[in-house]
Amino acid sequence: MNDRLQLLSALIALGSLAAMGLREGWTGMLALLPLPALALAMIWWRTNFIDPDENDPATAQAFLVEGTPGRVIRPHYHDHDQYQVIVSGDGVLGKHQLQVNAVHFSRRHTPYGPIVFGQGMGFLTLRAHQDAGAQYIDEPEKLAKLKSVDQRKPWQATELPKFDAATGSAALHTFEDIRDDEGLASFSMSVAPNAKALAPDPADSNGQYLIVVRGSLQYGGREYKALSVVFVKPQEGRFELVAGAGGLDVLVLHFPRAVAGAAVAPQAAKGAPGTRVWQCMLCAFVYDEAKGMPEEGIAPGTPWEEVPETWYCPDCSASKSDFQMAQVA
Ligand SMILES: [Fe+2]
Repeated sequence: MNDRLQLLSALIALGSLAAMGLREGWTGMLALLPLPALALAMIWWRTNFIDPDENDPATAQAFLVEGTPGRVIRPHYHDHDQYQVIVSGDGVLGKHQLQVNAVHFSRRHTPYGPIVFGQGMGFLTLRAHQDAGAQYIDEPEKLAKLKSVDQRKPWQATELPKFDAATGSAALHTFEDIRDDEGLASFSMSVAPNAKALAPDPADSNGQYLIVVRGSLQYGGREYKALSVVFVKPQEGRFELVAGAGGLDVLVLHFPRAVAGAAVAPQAAKGAPGTRVWQCMLCAFVYDEAKGMPEEGIAPGTPWEEVPETWYCPDCSASKSDFQMAQVA
């Protein structure tokens, strides 16, 4: 295997317990529990797909997180841009439903959560730069650190891919929301059985992940089935996707080079009630009074003051008091 590729396939669920046991001692112990105990315990485990270079933090880091029903990961943020891809089960992120193949992107220093595992769930965590781990916003020092970040520009989005039937050799779908002017872009591709197609060029990005979610990818005389992960560096050119006999569905996820512009600064409250726009000071979620939030029973035109005090941010679970005026429509 050459330098351009870091490829590894892994089985989901119990198969990954064995792989995990080699790296995380306590998880190895869980594998020794009888199955009834396993079913009752709320557990999780992690399978590393791509380990970052110990001598170079600006290298890719990819791993699979799986958990049993009811596991909760408290709202937190990371120091680096991150994709998460749901690969099994279901759950909830903040107030957003998660399902298989859902893609969530969170910019550095953007809190999100809690993540609640439904009937069990597995998701890939994908980065172009190694990260020290979750920083929980219910820990005062971590919250203070978040608020002290200069030029912070929080942003996140969740989107489902579309896998269209390949017309000819391949079909390409571009995500509508997960994109920016700095190279952030996401695609889903379907390649016909035994056909070849070039993935989008990662040259304008900070690195590209390819995630095999159905069928198989042929490479170097081997067949890589779901779930397989490839990281392509920006200078390595377009990756040739060669589908196996059952075809290939693959997610193509580009990281942004940088975040341009200054963060939105809070402004003094003004404007007529029912027309103002508010923004979560932690994660940048926007409440537009004119639109309301009908899905939560808050009618269009509802002034911020009339939103219940028990309401909390759909993205990061911050309380109503953590919102500030961002702009006036
Ligand atoms: Fe928020």
